[in-house]
Amino acid sequence: MLIAGNWKMYKGPAAAAEFCLGLREHELDGVDVVVCPPFVSLGVAVQLLAGTEIAVAAQNVHWEDEGAYTGEISASMLRELGVYGAIVGHSERRQLFGETDETVARRADAALEAGLFVIACVGETEQERERGETEGVLRRQLSVLKADDNLVVAYEPVWAIGTGKTATPDMAQDAHAFVKVLLDVPVLYGGSVKPENAAELLGQPDVDGALVGGASLDLDSFTAICRAAIHS
Ligand code: PGA
Repeated sequence: MLIAGNWKMYKGPAAAAEFCLGLREHELDGVDVVVCPPFVSLGVAVQLLAGTEIAVAAQNVHWEDEGAYTGEISASMLRELGVYGAIVGHSERRQLFGETDETVARRADAALEAGLFVIACVGETEQERERGETEGVLRRQLSVLKADDNLVVAYEPVWAIGTGKTATPDMAQDAHAFVKVLLDVPVLYGGSVKPENAAELLGQPDVDGALVGGASLDLDSFTAICRAAIHS
């Protein structure tokens, strides 16, 4: 089981440090835990979690090693900082920042090539689900990715992200099983995961963990989700 906390654009270095110091105090054997702070807080998170089993990942990564790409960060820069992995293709990147299947694939390939662990996000919008296009969308989004020992997919139905609406455990299970037929990698569920629904979602046979947004910002709720993973 893998539980990853996606902090999005929350927690600058001071707040990240406070969270990481608190996280160190928790006994979380039996689950792989990853935190994904914003770029400016990666360094302090790496330093404060050194010597623990908790890994630090970025929320994005560029495909070139260096160059004239204002605002981007490369895999080798992340590696230099001691960062373990990166999220690619989050639906907020796709919807708000013009990320496409092609750019997601380039980011994933370059990050894997550089030795980073990659969490690649896929998922349908509400309209796409209503039109019965969920499987088609997943098929398209996954078609650009290649199975790799360092790749996991996060199935995040867009309508469930930050909305408080969660896919039912059956919906998540169906989507995860479908993803695994196309790409043989572990699949995390994401979209309004919280301590109250974590055990049921994580109890599904093809749910291998969770990518947690809002509920990962609070130490108590994040560690409660990690403990649910240990017991499922
Ligand atoms: P949420 O976000 O848990 O706040 O819905 C999940 C995500 O965007 O990864």
